[in-house]
Amino acid sequence: MPGSDGHAEQVAQALAQATAALRAATDVESLRRVANEHSGKGSALVGLKSSLGSLADVEARKAAGRAINEAMQAIEAIVSERLALLERAAAQVASAGEAMDLTEHLARRSRGHAHIVTQAWERLEDVFVGMGFKVAEGPEVETDFHNFTALNMPPNHPARSGFDTLFVKYGAPGSTLLRTHTSPVQIRVMQEWDLPIYAVMPGRVFRRDTPDATHMPVFHQIEGLVIDKGITFAHLAGTIEAFTKAFFGSEFTSRLRPNYFPFTEPSAEFDVRSSNGKWIELGGCGMVHPNVLRAGGVDPEVYSGFAFGFGIDRMAKERHDVADLRDMYANDLRFVRQF
Ligand code: DAH
Repeated sequence: MPGSDGHAEQVAQALAQATAALRAATDVESLRRVANEHSGKGSALVGLKSSLGSLADVEARKAAGRAINEAMQAIEAIVSERLALLERAAAQVASAGEAMDLTEHLARRSRGHAHIVTQAWERLEDVFVGMGFKVAEGPEVETDFHNFTALNMPPNHPARSGFDTLFVKYGAPGSTLLRTHTSPVQIRVMQEWDLPIYAVMPGRVFRRDTPDATHMPVFHQIEGLVIDKGITFAHLAGTIEAFTKAFFGSEFTSRLRPNYFPFTEPSAEFDVRSSNGKWIELGGCGMVHPNVLRAGGVDPEVYSGFAFGFGIDRMAKERHDVADLRDMYANDLRFVRQF
């Protein structure tokens, strides 16, 4: 039947034209326009549809009608596929237009860096972790028990007055305080960890001090605690020396001077010095007192240990040759940017 063949050809041709035009549309608006031209009112396909009535053969009419519908659906599918694609591209262009070029600001402003005390803190942790220690932290608001009593300073012990303690209004008067040193974390670690213990405990500490060149009311310490079977003073001295070389450099050495601390017996103060420099006092150390071991739940007949504690701020101060501790906390960028 030539009539239906003619229709089929025209439908195929209309679809081919529509497809080519739709693929050529490069923006949403022209896509919509092209779609309307090829499948809307006045389009070739709609024209063909309305001329179907002229086909006498019912089967041929049905076949032609089906072909037109399929062509319409094919066009619809292409339109929605292209629409999604073009809309996505348009959104990308729009957001690229809204984006601000901050390269100039990035180049001009530095991102800043860790404070020298934080740098020292992190390096200290690294050195001790490298020596096999674990890192622990305790609370800044402490009990009198952990800060004093358990460290062999029962109520009215004279050594307590050496710590200018800031108390917190909580519980019985004097029972809660801002920790004056990191030593109370020793007690917490002994109570909570399994033995043996190889721990360092860095943290912020507080004392009722007026700021001056060498004192701040808030400062930082790092505490060390080793508890194992057969630990002697030689292990303490060896650890301090190994730490000194690892942290300051191989040209540095350490020395221990006899001292007194209630929580260690014997106790010492330790200093470090470079091959030609002056001795710098770093902190205190000693063999953990049996009373302290007992307070931490450790049997002093079976275990022994050593402890040490020193100021992080002071180390940062010495390392960077800062004359006045207060400069380290004034947040003056001219100071901060030097390190
Ligand atoms: N807690 C002491 C202080 O703040 C420092 C110290 C001395 C810690 C001897 C220790 C130690 O662990 O064994 O002055």
